[in-house]
Amino acid sequence: MTDAIPEPRGAEARPVLTVEDLTVVYEVDEPVTAVRGADLVLHRGEILGLAGESGCGKTTLAYAVNRLHRPPARIASGRITFHDRSGDDIDILALEDAELRAFRWEKLSMVFQGAMNALNPVATVRAQLRDTLLAHRPGMSKGAIRARSREVLERVGVDPARLGSYPHELSGGMRQRVMIAMAMLLEPQIMVMDEPTTALDVVVQRDILREIVRLRDELDFAVVFITHDLPLLLEISDRIAVMLEGEIVEFEAADRLYREARHPYTRRLLGSFPSLSGTRGAFIRDGGEPSETTEEQV
Ligand SMILES: Nc1ncnc2c1ncn2[C@@H]1O[C@H](COP(=O)(O)OP(=O)(O)OP(=O)(O)O)[C@@H](O)[C@H]1O
Ligand SMILES: [Mg+2]
Repeated sequence: MTDAIPEPRGAEARPVLTVEDLTVVYEVDEPVTAVRGADLVLHRGEILGLAGESGCGKTTLAYAVNRLHRPPARIASGRITFHDRSGDDIDILALEDAELRAFRWEKLSMVFQGAMNALNPVATVRAQLRDTLLAHRPGMSKGAIRARSREVLERVGVDPARLGSYPHELSGGMRQRVMIAMAMLLEPQIMVMDEPTTALDVVVQRDILREIVRLRDELDFAVVFITHDLPLLLEISDRIAVMLEGEIVEFEAADRLYREARHPYTRRLLGSFPSLSGTRGAFIRDGGEPSETTEEQV
């Protein structure tokens, strides 16, 4: 293993999303600036980890990027640009409502925090996938809907026989997989995942993370993966942004962050977890083979 900083995937990094100087304020009696002057660039096909303790503004940032924020949240300043595969740049903050509805799921989809409880309890998996497809592709044939629904479930490791199931008939892990299937249904270029595995047990969490990394490799979408769990992010991310009280205080390649975090807060987060194996990134990135980066070498 070399000491080289991992380059973003691909020979040259091409941005798919640029966030510039984003500030989000909750206009309550004593206004809360939950995101303060955030700058981020997401590259095509990369996994960008967004870490930071509870309440630092991760979900607020993710909602703002999707324009899903609702009052009292207000975007006080900033610019969010989606760089489409076609070469067009889309100013997300300037989209009209109809354009925004078309944009979400098609170009950028989100798996919400607590998403496994976000499925409609009275609709089958089949109906929920179908409704999302038809909302965006009104002319889609029944056969094509069936084929696509089966395909996305298979991709996330759920037996298509589950199409007829209601959410309460599925385990938490399966529900979460269905949410991820839903998010990839329209082949978006970006998937934002807010704590997608936090509520799951460790084994299921590992399986799903492996799946996400594999899907990213196969389908080449970019992922913003949000969690307070920095060690987990070190395993799956290409680059990591660390948030503290609304600000991004560090934004670095994952390997470099692990070796030479600059901000004292990041060092504290890194220092605050015991390493069982002494390795970083071994479990998921290398399919279980231990990497050669041991703590002694760091
Ligand atoms: N509706 C609201 N009204 C006022 N303040 C809010 C509201 N929602 C969130 N906040 C505040 O904004 C800040 C950021 O919250 P946010 O949910 O974005 O944090 P987070 O990093 O996602 O936390 P967690 O890890 O717990 O999910 C917090 O201080 C929170 O109290
Ligand atoms: Mg959150």
